[in-house]
Amino acid sequence: MRLQGLSTIVTGGASGFGAEIARAYAREGAKVVIFDLNADGAKTVASEIGASAIAHGGSVANKADVDAAVKLAVDTFGKLDVVVNNAGWTFRNKPMLEVTEEEFDRVFDVNVKAIFLMTNACVPVMKKQKSGRIINIGSTAGVRPRPGLTWYNASKGAVNLMSKSMAVELAPDGIRVNCIAPVMGETGLLEAFMGVPDTPENRAKFIGTIPLGRMSRPSDIANACVYMAGEESEFLTGVILPVDGGRTI
Ligand SMILES: NC(=O)c1ccc[n+]([C@@H]2O[C@H](COP(=O)([O-])OP(=O)(O)OC[C@H]3O[C@@H](n4cnc5c(N)ncnc54)[C@H](O)[C@@H]3O)[C@@H](O)[C@H]2O)c1
Repeated sequence: MRLQGLSTIVTGGASGFGAEIARAYAREGAKVVIFDLNADGAKTVASEIGASAIAHGGSVANKADVDAAVKLAVDTFGKLDVVVNNAGWTFRNKPMLEVTEEEFDRVFDVNVKAIFLMTNACVPVMKKQKSGRIINIGSTAGVRPRPGLTWYNASKGAVNLMSKSMAVELAPDGIRVNCIAPVMGETGLLEAFMGVPDTPENRAKFIGTIPLGRMSRPSDIANACVYMAGEESEFLTGVILPVDGGRTI
């Protein structure tokens, strides 16, 4: 077991990549707070996992909910070793001039401000421990953007870059910060990213741009998050790791 006894928080853990990250963490011996706006979904994933997981319903864009998630982890598991900032949202793929101000605000609240709030909540705890790992789920969208997702791409560019900046600032405190950048994957967000119905023909167009010839799977992202949380990556910080079948080459 590679994460034996670690106390972790996975945001957006009710579905998609986050649910698989939470399952993989528990399989490797960690305790997990599954923090999601979809409180019922978080409870379902936590009850499937069993005693190592607890659900926390709330928004990553709300300071009180974020503070409560960190308190829950510390009160329940006695410490906080790893935070995975995975929750994310996008408006449906469309020309940039059609994106509303509400959609712009939501994409930056959920994808960017949430990490500001979580950093403020979890870093003081990790500084006291003199150790911690923060893993931000960025995207290939922040490296090699596709049209129709300009403001989402910009939010993920911010996530990718802030991970490096956080890494240099927090290194003296023994806190490592890394970023996983997935390519398009089979999750709840897929149709919004494509902007067209999820048909085999439409998928084929996107898959044609990925050298290894398939979309990402939640297990690909979960495996990378296990590695970044464990001892095997102890000398890695500020890395943006594309999990993308070669899309960003
Ligand atoms: N699926 C892809 O193609 C892809 C590619 C690159 C990056 N990503 C990123 O991966 C991450 C996970 O997304 P996914 O693809 O698994 O999608 P998903 O929709 O299956 O999961 C996202 C989860 O985040 C939760 N969430 C949304 N807003 C929230 C909020 N305000 N507070 C708490 N939870 C909230 C949702 O309820 C959901 O459970 C996101 O950051 C996304 O941007 C996805």
